[in-house]
Formats: sequence, C-alpha cells, structure tokens
Amino acid sequence: MAQIIDGKKIAANVKAEVRAEVEKLRAAGKNPGLAVVLVGNNPASRVYVSNKEKDCAECGFRSYEYALPEETTEAELLELIDRLNADSSVNGILVQLPLPKQICEQTVLHAISPAKDVDAFHPENVGRIMIGDFQFLPCTPAGVIEMLDASGIEIAGKHCVVIGRSNIVGKPMAMLLLHRSGTVTICHSRTKDLAAQTRQADILVAAVGKAGFVTADMVKEGAVVIDVGMNRDAAGKLCGDVCYEEVAAKASAITPVPGGVGPMTRAILMRNTLTAARNAAE
Ligand code: GUN
Repeated sequence: MAQIIDGKKIAANVKAEVRAEVEKLRAAGKNPGLAVVLVGNNPASRVYVSNKEKDCAECGFRSYEYALPEETTEAELLELIDRLNADSSVNGILVQLPLPKQICEQTVLHAISPAKDVDAFHPENVGRIMIGDFQFLPCTPAGVIEMLDASGIEIAGKHCVVIGRSNIVGKPMAMLLLHRSGTVTICHSRTKDLAAQTRQADILVAAVGKAGFVTADMVKEGAVVIDVGMNRDAAGKLCGDVCYEEVAAKASAITPVPGGVGPMTRAILMRNTLTAARNAAE
C-alpha cells in the first residue's frame, strides 16, 4: 500500500516557518500584508478567498479583502490594482481567477506589479521561472516540489510525466521538475496513447480537472502519484483526477484529495507573501 503524502501536515510546517519569519518582521516594526481581490460571486472562489484570509491570520499577515460586484468593469479593477501597487502596506496582490467575462485576465495579471505578484503570473515572473532565476514560486507546482522533498522522494534522474499544460500548473510544474533534474514529459488532450506515456512515469502529476481520469492501468507499479485535481464527483464530494483506491494499491506514494496539494498551494502563497514583504523591507 502506498505512503500517503499528508499535504496538511507539510503545509502546517511551511506556515509555521513563515510565521516565525513574519514575527521577526513585526518585531522590527513592519506589518506585512496581502491583498486578495475577488470579483463576482463564484462560490468556489469565495471559499478559496476565505481560506487565504485564515492562512494570513495564522501566519501573522494582515489581509485586505476586496469583494467587487460581478458587473465590475476592467477599468475599475485596473484602478484598484494601481492603488494597491502604490500602497506600501500591501506587499502581495492576488486577484482570484476566473474573472467575469467582460474583464481580460491577461490585462489584469500584467497590471500587477511584478514585485507584489505572489501568484507568479506576471510575464516577468513567468520568464524568471523559465530561466531559473525566480523569487516568487508558482504556488501549486512549488507546493508539489515541497511535498516530494518533505517525503524524501528524489526527483533528479526520474522520469516525471505531467498531464496538463495550463499556465497555472502544467507548464510551470514541468519547469520546476526540470530545474530539479527530472526528465520531463508533458501530456495533454492531443497526446497519442496517453496511458503508454503515463506508464513510463516514476513521478506522475495529474493536473487535468476531470474526476476519475487517472486509472490504475495508466500507472507503473511503485510510481509516485501527485493529484492536483480539484473536482466534484457525481455525489458532489470533493475529489481529484486520480481513482484514488485502485491507484493507491499500485503506487509507492500518493497524495489524497482533499488534504494533499490544495493546502500546499496555500502555504506557498504565504511563503511568497513573506518573500515580497522581506524584499520591500530591504
Ligand atoms: N484560481 C484557481 N487557482 C488560482 C490561483 O492559484 N491563483 C489565483 N489568483 N486564482 C486561482
């Protein structure tokens, strides 16, 4: 039976480290803070935003929440971002995605000051990740790397297969695994014979967004399986991309959903906010 990688526990350790550092900044008279901007009423986004507030409180950050109505214009949102960029009490800015359709996500993400871009979505930060000279870690991919490290799983020389090529997870995940000397394959909806690719994986990362997508026949005996999916099953229960029971029987280690990658993403956001606050304090 597979080792279950406990994301909650590893995230708690990361947050405790962040908290200790935030306390030092506060003792030096700083009061670091994160601004979270939510536009509209997406219920999942509301939950994510309220979790981020809890994380901020736990780590000693101030949090500033901006809940804007669904019909907010792009110009109004850009005006708020300009204000937050100029506000020295705000160290990090996170605009929760997705945004309503009248607002261009690219335009908004490009408007956030790269120094406050704790999601690492600005093209400057994305480019820095590509060349390995980065300060802000892409939250979910960095959370996955942290989990592998904390579990004593070596990446160098391993065949890592990432399913999914999104800007938020798939592409930066592949890049971080490559920086750690993994041999990386990125699979996507046009990949031919997906199972033949995934069966090559020593480390398999599923970031598809479809419940039950990864089945046991797609997984090599003894592989490490990381489930980034966050879906609802037919009964409305939170689940990942991986058929957990059957894959756990074959894997050497696996992340559960919930309690796997999700808490890690949030913990790395806190670490990025600390990085932004330290840079601003220099
Ligand atoms: N929506 C889903 N994932 C994310 C994320 O990592 N950051 C932001 N800002 N919005 C999201």
